[in-house]
Amino acid sequence: MKKLFLKTYGCQMNVYDSGRMAELLAGVGYAPASTAEDADMVIVNTCHIREKASEKMYSELGRLRRLKERKAQNGQAMLIAVAGCVAQAEGEEIIRRQSAVDMVVGPQSYHRLPEMIAQIARGVGYTLETDFPAQEKFDSLPQERSASGPAAFLTVQEGCDRFCTFCVVPYTRGAEFSRPPERIVAEARRLVEKGVREITLLGQNVNAYRASAVSGEFWTLARLLHALAGIEGIARLRYTTSHPRDMSDDLIAAHRELDCLMPYLHLPVQSGSNPVLAAMNRQHTRENYLELVSRVRDARPDIALSSDFIVGFPGETDADFAATLGLVRQVGYAQAFSFKYSARPGTPAAASAKQIPDAVKSERLGVLQALLSEQQASFNASCGNRIVPVLFEKRGFKPGQAIGRSPWLQPVHVENAVHLVGTLEHVRIAEVLPHSLRGELATVECSRPRVTH
Ligand code: 5AD
Ligand code: SF4
Repeated sequence: MKKLFLKTYGCQMNVYDSGRMAELLAGVGYAPASTAEDADMVIVNTCHIREKASEKMYSELGRLRRLKERKAQNGQAMLIAVAGCVAQAEGEEIIRRQSAVDMVVGPQSYHRLPEMIAQIARGVGYTLETDFPAQEKFDSLPQERSASGPAAFLTVQEGCDRFCTFCVVPYTRGAEFSRPPERIVAEARRLVEKGVREITLLGQNVNAYRASAVSGEFWTLARLLHALAGIEGIARLRYTTSHPRDMSDDLIAAHRELDCLMPYLHLPVQSGSNPVLAAMNRQHTRENYLELVSRVRDARPDIALSSDFIVGFPGETDADFAATLGLVRQVGYAQAFSFKYSARPGTPAAASAKQIPDAVKSERLGVLQALLSEQQASFNASCGNRIVPVLFEKRGFKPGQAIGRSPWLQPVHVENAVHLVGTLEHVRIAEVLPHSLRGELATVECSRPRVTH
């Protein structure tokens, strides 16, 4: 058997895609390798969202070229494939910059990898696939799902039609496409058969999910969540990432109606300033967002919120940035990601003449991250001494230790619990550490943490 090593950058969608590529290539004789040194083929699944992410790819490719040359000296061949969003955005340019690359395959075309490998074996030079046949991809992937633990990702939607002015996703992942509900339900059932208890539905704009069933009925994300909640064996559902404009009433109601829908919502706002939100083409205001947050909290009072922020968007003033800090204080986040604006070629904001100096971006990022860390620490502290349900996902570093997640996605580690991997247990949070919680098995009912509003 040949061996495949996958190096994955970027979002959870890439993690899902890498898993599917591994399943697909297992079908043509590739077993997983734990290092690139060990592999006959390496796939670098790339991210293009910020400049740093694509730079990382080129340095990885440089390392792989040297490895390929060393292997060639020992008479061993190694194929290098670049997949994901940089592949889509840069196409042939990648091979021009790094000639050791054999294949470039966009996120909607990776079902063609076996064909591409066969072409190379026939002596055709490098191959390039960057079409957008999303439906064809899902239809051609193996039905069988391998599960590597009790928590799995499941892509239900791809692409984005929102065109935020800073973002490459509409260009690299294409127009919004929702998978048929029957296929998703069937994939979820197969995951459950493999021992999966928690499923996170993925989409670049997941709450824009809308598809017609074979019966002709129209399904929204809320309807899909209700259907999945009815599958025996599913204990937890999550979904990410959502756009505030697509947070429909039925989806908010699902947070009230479905116990297995975890009380955690990643709802990126990007900025707290209306002029910046308008320049970003976010199609919502600060007030819309705050109103939405309060409706979600009415539906599920213990919900924890998470967000993405961009600082130093072109034209962002000190007052705009202060408005972002004000919004963060008003909402109170359990967790968040924040980034310096990174100009992406081809996006409208990259052409703006009002770019912000890097030093200003760094300073604003520092201030915002200090506030967000404080909020995260206070949310975690509110879980101290409480009893929460934990789904144990894997072994910890210490013998006997198991690591799981709380409903609010916090990592929780417990000693002498390794036999519980794959199960949901009540855990008392004994200690709140900077990046995780230490728990002890409990026998009594769960309680909910205080959520700071
Ligand atoms: N610069 C900085 N951050 C960006 N993001 C998307 N595009 C850019 C960019 N050009 C951030 C947004 C988005 C997250 C996935 O990445 O906050 O929500
Ligand atoms: Fe990018 Fe999200 Fe905006 Fe779509 S909604 S353009 S994926 S930031």
